[in-house]
Amino acid sequence: MGERVDERIGFLAAEITRHSELYYNHSAPEITDADFDALWDELRQLDPDNEVLHKVGPEPLPGTVKVEHMFPMRSLDKGTTDDDIVHFVTQSTSGGKRFLAQPKLDGSALSLEYVAGNLHRAATRGSGERGEDVTLNAKLVANIPTRLNHPYTIHVRGEVVMPLAIYEEKYSNVSPNPRNLCSGALRQKHGDGKANASDLVFCAYDVKFPDDSSQARFDSELLHWLQEAGIEPAPWQIFESETPQNEMIEYTKEWSMKRSSYEFEIDGIVFKLDELTHRERLGETAHHPRWALAWKFPSQEAHSVLLDVDWQTGRTGSVTPVARIAPQMVGGVTVENVTLHNVGEVERLGIKIGDKVKITRRGDVIPKIIENLGKASPSDLENRLHADGTSFTGHLSFHDIAIPENCPACNRVLTMEGAFLRCLAMECDARTARSLTYWCRTLEMDGIGEKLIEALLEKSLIVTIADLYRLNHSQLSKLDRMGDKSANNVLDELAKTRTLNLAKFLHALGMERIGPEVATTISQHFISLEKILRWIDEGEDEELTTIDGIGEKVAAIFREGISKRRTLINELTELITVIDETESSSGIFDGKSFCITGSLSRPRKEIALAIKSLGGKVVSSVSGNLDYLVAGESAGSKLEKAQNLDVTILDEHEFQILMNGTNISSSEEPSEDPHQSTGTLDDWL
Ligand code: IVH
Repeated sequence: MGERVDERIGFLAAEITRHSELYYNHSAPEITDADFDALWDELRQLDPDNEVLHKVGPEPLPGTVKVEHMFPMRSLDKGTTDDDIVHFVTQSTSGGKRFLAQPKLDGSALSLEYVAGNLHRAATRGSGERGEDVTLNAKLVANIPTRLNHPYTIHVRGEVVMPLAIYEEKYSNVSPNPRNLCSGALRQKHGDGKANASDLVFCAYDVKFPDDSSQARFDSELLHWLQEAGIEPAPWQIFESETPQNEMIEYTKEWSMKRSSYEFEIDGIVFKLDELTHRERLGETAHHPRWALAWKFPSQEAHSVLLDVDWQTGRTGSVTPVARIAPQMVGGVTVENVTLHNVGEVERLGIKIGDKVKITRRGDVIPKIIENLGKASPSDLENRLHADGTSFTGHLSFHDIAIPENCPACNRVLTMEGAFLRCLAMECDARTARSLTYWCRTLEMDGIGEKLIEALLEKSLIVTIADLYRLNHSQLSKLDRMGDKSANNVLDELAKTRTLNLAKFLHALGMERIGPEVATTISQHFISLEKILRWIDEGEDEELTTIDGIGEKVAAIFREGISKRRTLINELTELITVIDETESSSGIFDGKSFCITGSLSRPRKEIALAIKSLGGKVVSSVSGNLDYLVAGESAGSKLEKAQNLDVTILDEHEFQILMNGTNISSSEEPSEDPHQSTGTLDDWL
């Protein structure tokens, strides 16, 4: 009997391997999917741990194997104006009036092939017909399940994107946009690229059924269905009325407004007919389906002329080239200063003073030069206005950009580190001023900005961050434009930050690469400042690199950053109290999922961190599996969806009560301000 079972297991395993090979690598299946599933189910019953069920064939190194897409990955017809939407709606209305809209995510398209619920293969879009096998790296993307909640055989399409917060924190120095990092991270061979696949997020927008098994009437039904299966779709909205074009146009306007504060980079809105039979009826042209339109935001690119370059020393000591350009409107704003990032970027662009340049501006990200268009001509300077409406009167001159040898702030000799020029002196004035401003801004001190810090430095009332906490009323009130009341305000603001948690403290110190997320991760590992200092004294890096998301480089930067600030930290701890991190990541929200929507009195990220610190999970869209929707003012489609799906809805007050049930007051949770950016943005500001 046992022998016969073993034989059967062997047979099933061999058959599954053979049919998978035929199906995936030769696109020549010999049996139906239902028959394949039957083999699979039988093997799973007889030998659930059989390796064939968990890995069908070895996974090739990313980029080494080409994949023929069973369903080609098409591109879409594009539009940029209101009229394009009106035209799209009118020409497709014979197919019905119900439309689905999703943000057009600007990342890298990915196809996930699931066989009986297991992630069998992930492939890039490539030519649309053939892509590259990137299964190994796709498995590192946290929200791509290797196993679905149900044993479906499906191809899921979506976009892999990088959260802008992560881009700003870790990568804005290495790539001009998150999009390039996405395809790089998927296709790199040994984790040797610029970005890690674990920093990416998958947002689904389509699902295909190799066995034609779907009964769905609407695409939106399939998106719900995907959520149940364990895959997160990009957010969506339905438009169904006599004149949906009006609301659709309104929708593009809404997204244009919130684009800059959205989690991911988007470059437009995709409109699609929702009813699947209507799609079939409309069909496709040789290039694109007739049932969809990719409406793109108007261009945020423009041309200008490089007039000069100034060098500025930032908080972390990096000396950044800031380009002065002839005034140019981009995305509704007049731009005259743009960043050139670092010396490496100057060299990469091969740029000289007097060159015509292409600049771009995305939301609230710093405008930058993306292309060198060669020598400018005098006409490139004509008809230009400053932001205040006055005429620009600059002239053209042509010469190389001089790379400084000495720090523009303290004149000490600079050091080259990779693509970066650095001033290594901690006492450099520019670094001090920016570190002080960064400290105050991170700790959200109202009324203590750059101007006040400069005045305090100038009068030698402060030298380090610790000196802020030694200021008294009489010193402050003697400053220009500082009355009795303002002086009290400043002292009150400072007093509020005399007690802060470890994550906030580490973040506010302004070490390179140690933004809010890394600071929280490190704090949750060490729990107390004391333990961090002991770790520094004992001199081992290994412990830190065992934390998820902390690589050797960040570990080294952190060690060096703390070591250099040792005197400051000692001084500070005499004056302020750094609270231990809560032993977190588990608590009353263990295993519970939350989605946050609408406008709330606290930054969304802060609420998300609070949830996470109590063991909860935060997801970006509403599904039947969701435990709670935290809904603020004017919550829209997510609220509606949650009501339909019977998800528990909490307003901010109810959420607070739920949290307080833990006896952990909200002020003790790691909190952060999403408006507070890190890295180059702060060096720039
Ligand atoms: S629907 C028939 N929805 O845009 C193709 N595409 O020009 C169905 N994209 O390469 C695509 N966000 O990678 C769709 N919400 C979204 C999207 C989206 C980004 C990309 C996609 C494709 C390109 C289409």
